[in-house]
This record gives sequence, C-alpha cells and structure tokens, in this order.
Amino acid sequence: MGRKVLVTGGAGFIGSNFVRMLVDDPTVDLVRILDKLTYAGSLDNLEDVLGNPKVEFVRGDIANYDDAHPAMEGIDWVVNFAAESHVDRSLRNPAEFVRTNIEGVRVLLEIARETKPERFLQISTDEVYGSIAEGCVDETAQLRPSSPYSASKASADMLCNAYLTTFGVPVIIARSANNYGPYQYPEKLIPRFVSLALKGEKLPLYGDGRNIRDWLYVEDNCRALLLILKKGKVGEIYNIGAGELHQNIEIARKILDILGKPEDMITFVADRPGHDRRYCVNWDKIRALGWEPQAKFEEKFRETVLWYARREQWLAKKSEEAEKFYRGQ
Ligand code: NAD
Ligand code: DAU
Repeated sequence: MGRKVLVTGGAGFIGSNFVRMLVDDPTVDLVRILDKLTYAGSLDNLEDVLGNPKVEFVRGDIANYDDAHPAMEGIDWVVNFAAESHVDRSLRNPAEFVRTNIEGVRVLLEIARETKPERFLQISTDEVYGSIAEGCVDETAQLRPSSPYSASKASADMLCNAYLTTFGVPVIIARSANNYGPYQYPEKLIPRFVSLALKGEKLPLYGDGRNIRDWLYVEDNCRALLLILKKGKVGEIYNIGAGELHQNIEIARKILDILGKPEDMITFVADRPGHDRRYCVNWDKIRALGWEPQAKFEEKFRETVLWYARREQWLAKKSEEAEKFYRGQ
C-alpha cells in the first residue's frame, strides 16, 4: 500500500508543483488537496492533474475544524503549504496572516492528535531567521522575523515544536529559500516584473534594489520536501537553499534582457518597510540526506521567464488583479 498524502494549499504556487511531483511518485496512492482558493490559489494551477484518479480536491479552510477534519482522515502524510504568503500584504492586513498561518496551523495540529498521521510536514520559510548580514545560518539560529508574515510563520514553527514535545505530533519543519518557477501568482517579484515588462510598464524596485535573495528552483524545493517526508527525522528542522544569491536589480535586468526590453524600464520606488536585506541558509543537514539542487540557475531562470511570457493572456488577467493591490484598491 502506498502513502495517502494531504497537501494543504495545493492550488498555490509551490503546492501545485508538489502535487504534480506526488502524482508521478509510485509510492503515493492518494493526493488529497485542501485549499480555500483565496486570491492566490487557482484550479488553473492544477488543470493537468485534476482528472488523475489519485487526486482529490476539497475546497476548505485549514482554520476551520469542520473543513480540515474530514480532509485529514485516513492520511499518512500531511504537508501544510496553506498560508498567506505575501510580505507586502502582511503589512496591510496582518490579521489574515495570524488567522491562516497561526490559527490554521493550530487547528491542523489539534486534528493530527486525533487522526495520527505518520508525518506532519510544516512548510516554513528562511524569512523566520530575519535578515542575515553575512554568512549563512543553520537550523539552530535564533528566529528574528521582521514582518507580520515572517512572524506568523515563526509562530507556527513554535506551535509545531510545542505539539511535538507535548502531544507527540510527528512534526518536521522545512525552511526554504525564495522559490522561482511556473505557476507563481504575479504579485511576487519575478512574475510581476515579467508581466509589467510585457505590458511596457516600469519595473518598480524597492529601495536601492540591492536586497539579496537566494533563488531556489521550485522543483528542487519539491524534491527536497519529498525526500524529507521519506527519509527526514521527526522533530527535525531542515533548511533548503540553492546558493544562488542575487540582488533584485540583477533579477530585473535579467528579465528585461530575456524579453529584449530596455534597462531604463527599471524604476526605484519607496522601500518596503522593514525590508530584509539578505537571506542565506546553510543546508548541510538536508545535503546529508542526499539532496542537492540540480537546477542550473541561468537555464531555469530563462525557462521560467519564457513560461510566463508564453502565457501572456493568463498573466495579464492575474496581473490585473494583483496590480489592484499595489494601487491600494
Ligand atoms: P501561494 O500564496 O502561492 O499559495 C498559498 C495557497 O494556500 C493558495 O492556494 C491559497 O488558496 C491557499 N490558502 C490560503 N489560505 C488558506 C486557508 N486558510 N485554508 C486553505 N488554503 C489556504 O504560496 P506559495 O508561494 O506557494 O507558498 C506555499 C508555502 O510555502 C507557504 O506556507 C509559504 O509560507 C511557504 N514558502 C514560500 C516560499 C516562496 O518563495 N514562495 C519560500 C519559502 C516558503
Ligand atoms: O524567502 C522566502 C520567502 O520568499 C517566502 O517565505 C515568501 O512567501 C515569498 O513571498 C518570498 O518573499 P519575498 O519578500 O522575498 O518575495 P517577493 O517576491 O515579494 O520579493 C522579492 C524581493 O523583491 C524582495 O526583496 C522585495 C523585492 N520587490 C518585490 C516586488 C514584488 C521589489 O523590489 N519590487 C516588487 O515589486
């Protein structure tokens, strides 16, 4: 008998890529998706897998016991991607982040005490460590979240540890770097800039554009998560990085270059309040499990930009919604 997996937030960016990987895994029998379908989630992201007999889709809220309990019944592995994920939105509406990212996790952990999955993988983020001026941090580093988003994710990690220690819920935490790849909502840097460039609009870099992120290809991240489910140790935390540290201005220039657009489309705008300067995690621990990033950055970055460019209409529709947020509507 193969594993039965619950993927919360499976209609979002990373979740939908992960579902695709599970569908192709012969050791997995059932992929149940629980997703509220917020502005960030879409069944379009799952179009190619929804007809697969292994896949079940349930629309529901992780913070609602009555939605989440039936979804967790009979499940071996819970993988919790569901979250409010956008830092800029957390500055305007922190309450929603507390509700989904903390209360939602509490509800899932409570249910796990009853339904007893074999593993509960909480998808956290490298942002919980806060800005890292130099070097890279391992899993023992102090948590210093800067935004309501990262504070809500750090709080969820704390709850997970408490439920492990006190109630024996078999939690594992994964803290990934910035993902790039297909199916990301165009409020985030890369798809937003591709979309603006295609529309001939300026690309707004926050502050001096020199903030640094470590760019991890989404399939590499998903492979790491699957490996953690199979070989990771309950109670452990695993950082997942790529060693591809790039300034935002480099990312913007690369996008313009790939699309054949001029560099003067870049503009500098007011900085994000509390903007973390740099992230960098050390991932020796997951390397020891047998994982390495495989993506060649230049190649996958180009492929990603062109993936969005080929879907110009889809992108324009999503970007219309996303830009309303930036215009304060
Ligand atoms: P996303 O915003 O693209 O997707 C989030 C999904 O969760 C959406 O499908 C949404 O409908 C769903 N959702 C939101 N609230 C829900 C609720 N209350 N109940 C059920 N479903 C709900 O996010 P993403 O970028 O795919 O990120 C997924 C996870 O990975 C998040 O937990 C995020 O914190 C974490 N993460 C993301 C990155 C990144 O670079 N994108 C990096 C590290 C960690
Ligand atoms: O590090 C992991 C995190 O990466 C995840 O936990 C988050 O869910 C995910 O959204 C992402 O957070 P960031 O804040 O790093 O991603 P974002 O795409 O919003 O921004 C990337 C960088 O680009 C950041 O330094 C802010 C900057 N930026 C972003 C946008 C949207 C701009 O300069 N202009 C923009 O218009």
